[in-house]
Amino acid sequence: MTTTWTPDSWQKRPALQQPNYDNPGELTEALKTLSQLPPLVTAWEVDRLRGQLAAAGDGNAFVLQGGDCSESFDDCNSGTILRKLKVLIQMSLVLICGSKKRIVRVGRIAGQYAKPRSADMEKRGDIELPSYRGDIVNRSGFTPAERRPDPQLMLRAYERSSLTINYIRALSEGGFADLHHPENWDLEFVRNTPGSRRYQQLLESLSDSIRFMEAVSQGELTQLTRVDFFTSHEALLLLFEQALTRMERQRGWYNLGTHMAWIGDRTRAVDGAHIEYFRGIRNPIGLKVGNSMAPDELIDVIRILNPDNEPGRLTLIHRFGAEKIRSRLPALAEAVLRSGCKVLWSCDPMHGNGQTARNGIKTRSFDDIMSEIITAFRIHKEVGSRLSGIHLELTGEDVTECIGGPGNLSESDLTRDYRSQVDPRLNYEQAMEIAFLIAEQMR
Ligand code: PEP
Ligand code: CO
Repeated sequence: MTTTWTPDSWQKRPALQQPNYDNPGELTEALKTLSQLPPLVTAWEVDRLRGQLAAAGDGNAFVLQGGDCSESFDDCNSGTILRKLKVLIQMSLVLICGSKKRIVRVGRIAGQYAKPRSADMEKRGDIELPSYRGDIVNRSGFTPAERRPDPQLMLRAYERSSLTINYIRALSEGGFADLHHPENWDLEFVRNTPGSRRYQQLLESLSDSIRFMEAVSQGELTQLTRVDFFTSHEALLLLFEQALTRMERQRGWYNLGTHMAWIGDRTRAVDGAHIEYFRGIRNPIGLKVGNSMAPDELIDVIRILNPDNEPGRLTLIHRFGAEKIRSRLPALAEAVLRSGCKVLWSCDPMHGNGQTARNGIKTRSFDDIMSEIITAFRIHKEVGSRLSGIHLELTGEDVTECIGGPGNLSESDLTRDYRSQVDPRLNYEQAMEIAFLIAEQMR
């Protein structure tokens, strides 16, 4: 039985992972302001992304989705945004050369501010305070004032998202993204590693090809002077998302705070508030699929989210872990094939591979991440389905958060430059190595 959908119909369902705001007046005021601010994206852009995802689902493109686990207000600066864009563009070039396919670039960016947490409260010694839920809800410092959920932070997050997307747009349209000048995407700290030499070689052969094509066509290949770059975040904080949900005449309801939104593994209950909210918006939807998802349940959720079986609407992002993927993925992929539901499969090799180092720091091993990706390609092929995307937590910085990889980081390196407030991210070298690995898998 389906009931009528409205932007607030989710409020009749159990909503997990929402903060407790203590001042209703203040909350209402902030949401009202938010709902009157201009949108960050347009329905045309959202539709264009849906079209590109449909092509990827058919095997004609590949999706590269990546960025921070959680953006932070402090990192909303030109250098950090620029480096994130650079690493994603560099990775996409590697993937284009390997796969000879179009790459759909989607950042976990310009709105990735809300985090689900395993406990509502955090205890340190005798003091217990609300858990940190991302900069859009409260602050990470451990004082009562910092941990109080503050509705004003939704406005601060929206403003920062707007600054971020404005800068991304400027960069992706003009000179910076011009394939004739890949030196624009160089990072200042790149070492002389096998990966960076491989990347330089790839650029050289690419420049040759471009010069050849332009000589043949007697003109500049103008399509090469810009890139498409889309935004995405986990639409976790439903009051915020509702305020950004707008009716576009004759097209329906869109969340105009982002191009694509995804549902986290902790909030994907069939009868929960998040599924109810998502089913009514026209944006492409991501659904995290973790170890507790049963095949029947998955098909039920797919039918709720995409009743018209529209291509490009639904991306299933599986995240099992390097070991568990072997036992979990085949049954789910087979069930989807049998159902005839059109979905795009993407692999998140990050969230099933968390581990705690001996010094107590949260990390992930590069080898586990790599192994989950290889296994994902293999299983989809065996089953007769297709892996069409990758979902990564990464940064353009030289951080030390995941162990292993080209720099062979060990547990003792983790303390050197660990910046993430939440999950550990691939650093620049590790991210590029993953891009080369995926390119090889697609070849
Ligand atoms: C995330 O993508 O940051 C996340 C929390 O993932 P998941 O919902 O898959 O655990
Ligand atoms: Co994360």
